[in-house]
Amino acid sequence: MAKARIAILISGRGSNMQALIDAARDPDYPAEIALVISNRPKAPGLAKAGEAGIQREVINHKDFENREDFEAALHDALKTAKIDFVCLAGFMRVLTGKFASDWRGRLINIHPSLLPSFEGLHVHERMIEAGVKLAGCTVHFVSAEVDSGPIIGQTAVPVLPGDDADKLAARILEEEHRLYPACLKLLIDGNARLTGASVTYDESITATGALSNPPIKD
Ligand code: GRF
Repeated sequence: MAKARIAILISGRGSNMQALIDAARDPDYPAEIALVISNRPKAPGLAKAGEAGIQREVINHKDFENREDFEAALHDALKTAKIDFVCLAGFMRVLTGKFASDWRGRLINIHPSLLPSFEGLHVHERMIEAGVKLAGCTVHFVSAEVDSGPIIGQTAVPVLPGDDADKLAARILEEEHRLYPACLKLLIDGNARLTGASVTYDESITATGALSNPPIKD
């Protein structure tokens, strides 16, 4: 079967992008990373994508007068590359409702908290300050509001005594790198899909009881 064509949108170091690239190296993984777009010309992730031989494009938001024109350029690049699913991976631009609805069901994001708790920025610092004992990460469909949208999968991570924001971030990031490829695979295989405002799963997935830490299903 033809592999789904994936675009990854980044702004920074691109470690989640790298995790998706690595997962897609497995011949059995149902996706091919066809395009990496960065809105920042100096994003370190661009070099990693280059090393992996993946087509890269810089679409710098500063070159556009408004958000709509920037997103029109993004949309055109995605269409030209015949992209099926778009993964945001540390992409630091807020997308409009129009973009989210144009890519509805095919646009996903990863966030380093157990949403809907701790949306937004400086998540790790805020979790440490709040004294939470469980942290984690979430992969969700993108909707018009930031860090909201139906949840596809989550992984919980303990907050340990002595943690600071950096230690916690590193522990969560390790799980992000597992969760993102697993959730993308669920979507591509049709084992999870957006139905109205929620996500429905194939029975074979719900029966395992493993949705809090979705495995890559064989
Ligand atoms: C990750 O923590 C991700 O959850 C958040 O931004 C960070 C990006 O890191 N949205 P990287 O660029 O994937 O290394």
